[in-house]
Amino acid sequence: MPREVDWTQPLSVEGASADPVVLRLERLSKRYSADRPALFEGIDLELRQGEYLAVMGESGVGKSTLLNLLAGLDQPDSGRVLLGGVDLSALDDDGVTLLRRRAVGFVFQAFHVLPYLSVEQNVALPLDLLGVREPERSRRTTEMLTAVGLAPLALRYARELSGGEVQRVAIARALVHRPRLLLADEPTGNLDARSAAQTLTLLREQVKANAGAGILITHSRTAAETADRILVLEAGGLRSLGPGR
Ligand SMILES: Nc1ncnc2c1ncn2[C@@H]1O[C@H](COP(=O)(O)OP(=O)(O)OP(=O)(O)O)[C@@H](O)[C@H]1O
Ligand SMILES: [Mg+2]
Repeated sequence: MPREVDWTQPLSVEGASADPVVLRLERLSKRYSADRPALFEGIDLELRQGEYLAVMGESGVGKSTLLNLLAGLDQPDSGRVLLGGVDLSALDDDGVTLLRRRAVGFVFQAFHVLPYLSVEQNVALPLDLLGVREPERSRRTTEMLTAVGLAPLALRYARELSGGEVQRVAIARALVHRPRLLLADEPTGNLDARSAAQTLTLLREQVKANAGAGILITHSRTAAETADRILVLEAGGLRSLGPGR
């Protein structure tokens, strides 16, 4: 049995736990209403430390819904999500929020970048929520801004950015606290080919460097191939499309 790690306890931003199973889904099912078919039923999945997975699938099939369940932002109808051995359904709302803050980095399909904060303030937000202090806070923020090519725009308000720049803010913010689990929902949809390629490389490198695991949702086969393995979500469940790179 892998060692179970209590992620509800404070976790150093620098420290990565030794538990090799980052995420486990057990018989996960979700439907939005009784008069519509289930989006998916009985999904089992295990994601181990260092694993980077791509999930493809048609629009509306349930990819974003699945990511929301993994991050504890929505509840399944049945089945369990275990993050670092912790069953999300066993935690109250505050417990799930704290666990998500520490352990999960989420690049939302709709970004959720705060327009009236600067680029730097947006990216530093996860560290602020975790109580990470100076100089570590600035060091880590600057490092991430540099990694996504936004250092020159650090003091700009997010509302003054282009769509692609906002997307890069969202990516830096999802990575700045070195999450054990990175969930990225179409993170390169708004980027030009060169920025997309750089971003995909960065996401992969960060997942590997954080000794965590990652899930990349994408419509692009080229993007999916930057992951270790590719799954397709379709009516009913997840199907393997084979190895990535
Ligand atoms: N909060 C909600 N309440 C009811 N139905 C919802 C809700 N959110 C999504 N849906 C529906 O569930 C289905 C799956 O939506 P989801 O956003 O998970 O799809 P997706 O695979 O991410 O699609 P895309 O590739 O377009 O982003 C869609 O039919 C959508 O309309
Ligand atoms: Mg989606």
